[in-house]
Amino acid sequence: MAHTPNAKVVAEHDEIGLNLYVRILHELESHPSSSVLLDISGDPEQGLRALEHLNQAAPGLYVLLSEYQCSTEFLIRAMRTGAADFLLQPLKRVEFRDAMVRLEQYMARVHSHSRPLGKMYTFAGVKGGVGTTTAAINFATVCAKQNKSTIVLDLDLDSGDLASYLGLQPQYSLHDAMEGLARLDQAMLDGIVTRHAEGFSVLCAPDDIEKARLIAPHQLKELGTFLIEQYDVVVVDGSRGLDDILLNCLELSDSLFLVLTQEFPAVRNAQHYINALVRIGFSQEVIKLLVNRYQKRAPLHVSMEQLQQTLSAKPFYAFPNCYEEAMQAIHKARPIVLNPAAELGRAYREFVKKVGFSSDGQPAGGAAAAVGAARKNNG
Ligand SMILES: Nc1ncnc2c1ncn2[C@@H]1O[C@H](COP(=O)(O)OP(=O)(O)OP(=O)(O)O)[C@@H](O)[C@H]1O
Ligand SMILES: [Mg+2]
Repeated sequence: MAHTPNAKVVAEHDEIGLNLYVRILHELESHPSSSVLLDISGDPEQGLRALEHLNQAAPGLYVLLSEYQCSTEFLIRAMRTGAADFLLQPLKRVEFRDAMVRLEQYMARVHSHSRPLGKMYTFAGVKGGVGTTTAAINFATVCAKQNKSTIVLDLDLDSGDLASYLGLQPQYSLHDAMEGLARLDQAMLDGIVTRHAEGFSVLCAPDDIEKARLIAPHQLKELGTFLIEQYDVVVVDGSRGLDDILLNCLELSDSLFLVLTQEFPAVRNAQHYINALVRIGFSQEVIKLLVNRYQKRAPLHVSMEQLQQTLSAKPFYAFPNCYEEAMQAIHKARPIVLNPAAELGRAYREFVKKVGFSSDGQPAGGAAAAVGAARKNNG
């Protein structure tokens, strides 16, 4: 640190226990602009677990990881677990200095914003037609109505129908944002997005499949990072498989809302999705199951108990089966939540409250309560 005059050590810990995050959280209270240099060479596996806990407890904390190995596989794991940067050991003075410069640049960028970074929420369907776009639209509408600056990104690049569900006729699309990525600022973005009357912005999928194919996964990460800096809430409609584009978004996402129904193929796909995501390093806590078109008594469907057992997880929320309301919303190009009498609209408002956007800012009750509410609605 002697060679980095702007940096100061505020605390040191010799042991990397799994409760390291508790001590760091305490220290962050008195030094909120701190970052963490985490030397995991003593026990890399334990170190990565500690990093995962730290990242969950303090999302957005800049963690500079240090280890002797730097295989691609290890670096990808480290990045997915939440490392912001990596320093190879034995430490070299010039590499350490460069890492400090990157840290300073990051801090300058974060502090140049008077507002905290926004949050990205990705909605992905375990198969087509399960209600992903409907969920993303209604989530965004409620957020916008609560005065959160909100943008929705249509990542269904082959057949995105976000614009038509909202009755929008976009002039520009994600393709234009990608073309101008290097010089993208808020003014340019304002010219590219389409505004919805409810106050949120939409970045539509390109209407030309050829243009959609030109979008590279790493560009999505760059765009996503920019959007989080500009908006309170970034909603991604990822009605597509687990491809690299979606994975790049997931790395920035606060939550992945995995939308499924009680159909057998949907539950089976959900199981594959969860296993694949956990295998490549995503924490199970980030993955939140949304059961759509929930029915308590539906012959030939998977019951909620079976679903929980198969997926070893309680659904975060269950939306009632209201086909009429959902179809009307599409037909009128008007999100269901704008219909005060709609049962499904109520469910969406409750869901957003549970995510943590209630007016008092408190997350609402547990998953069981949400499932119970949907059950009651369906008799
Ligand atoms: N809770 C619900 N109850 C009944 N019908 C619903 C519900 N949610 C969505 N739907 C209906 O399901 C159909 C598919 O919805 P949507 O387009 O949102 O799904 P998707 O997963 O995005 O589909 P795609 O794979 O085509 O992108 C629509 O007709 C919609 O009205
Ligand atoms: Mg869709």
